[in-house]
Amino acid sequence: KTIISKINAEDIDLNEIKKQAELLKSGKTVIFPTETVYGLGANALDECAVKKIYEAKGRPSDNPLIVHIYDEKEVYDLAKDVNEKAKLIMKEFWPGPITIILNKKSIVPDTTSGGLDTVAIRMPSHKIAREIIKQAGIPIAAPSANISGRPSPTKAKHVYEEMDGRVDGMILGGDSNFGVESTVLDLTEDVPMILRPGSVTKEALEEIIGNVQLDPSLRNKEDNKKAKAPGMKYTHYSPNAQVYIVSGNDINVMNRINELVKINKEKGLKTGVMCLDKNKDKYSGEIIKLGNTLEEVASNLFDALIEMDKRKIDIIYSEEFPTYGVGQAIMNRLLKSAGYKIIQA
Ligand code: TXA
Ligand code: MG
Repeated sequence: KTIISKINAEDIDLNEIKKQAELLKSGKTVIFPTETVYGLGANALDECAVKKIYEAKGRPSDNPLIVHIYDEKEVYDLAKDVNEKAKLIMKEFWPGPITIILNKKSIVPDTTSGGLDTVAIRMPSHKIAREIIKQAGIPIAAPSANISGRPSPTKAKHVYEEMDGRVDGMILGGDSNFGVESTVLDLTEDVPMILRPGSVTKEALEEIIGNVQLDPSLRNKEDNKKAKAPGMKYTHYSPNAQVYIVSGNDINVMNRINELVKINKEKGLKTGVMCLDKNKDKYSGEIIKLGNTLEEVASNLFDALIEMDKRKIDIIYSEEFPTYGVGQAIMNRLLKSAGYKIIQA
């Protein structure tokens, strides 16, 4: 049975945190909120504990985990060759939604690094995440707290509904702020490479460390199999419904989606539409608004996909979003959830 603690991030109950931290210290699994998505944590340095994470998620064992830390100093225990760019990134963006990949020290078990010679490290900014890592006193490996392949949970009710009974402890602590997972940046090569786009954008990174590349294999489905972050190879973020992205100018997209909604209705299929708030009155079908700014869309995207499942939607059409700023992360997640299916309107 899962031990559940409800905690308010603005008024943290330290006793509840300590109770959950004890579970982590004794090699058990605990779900907790972060500023990006909820994470499913265990002691990153304990192979047995880490195996429980893979089991709870049904995650392939070659997909490495991110190690979450409380203090920057811990980086030097976990990784070697901590270069100048890494130091600049830590100084500018930590605590916050960016993960850095460095060469690992032997203290990090292969189970945590998915057999790679590198380790992914992140210092989250969410108050509850920080407090539980601090109280546990150990680095915490934590993937997103969803069953492998499903959209990542951004709300307390998502994790509760999907993971209750699958883990030893669970902290329900409100909504995540950013809604897409952290940017994953590989700093082991001369030119840093984004392996997974996130809320810390390419543009923001380049201001601090100069030229940054985006893993070219993220562009399309075929190349995806070569992605440097093992997690990016797998089918991911998939609701039960079939997802399609509809691309083109506003009027064509509107006409095409409405035509498709009508055809599906005749076939007896329930059709959902995901769009910007300002476009909500243009469409028929079950509408889910994603917000108006790219930041809002990022924060609402996974929730929208999960909500579509709850409404038993069969087919989802989504508007397309630009790929600058956090749009890069949005389109990366949306394309994966759609299995790269795009309709040209
Ligand atoms: O925002 C986040 O990063 C959330 C919260 C909970 O912190 N965590 C998260 O973890 O998204 P996960 O396991 O769902 O995604 C980790 C990604 C995967 O694509 C994985 O393959 C990649 O990071 N990754 C981890 N270690 C790596 C390594 N050493 N080299 C390359 N990619 C790595
Ligand atoms: Mg994940």
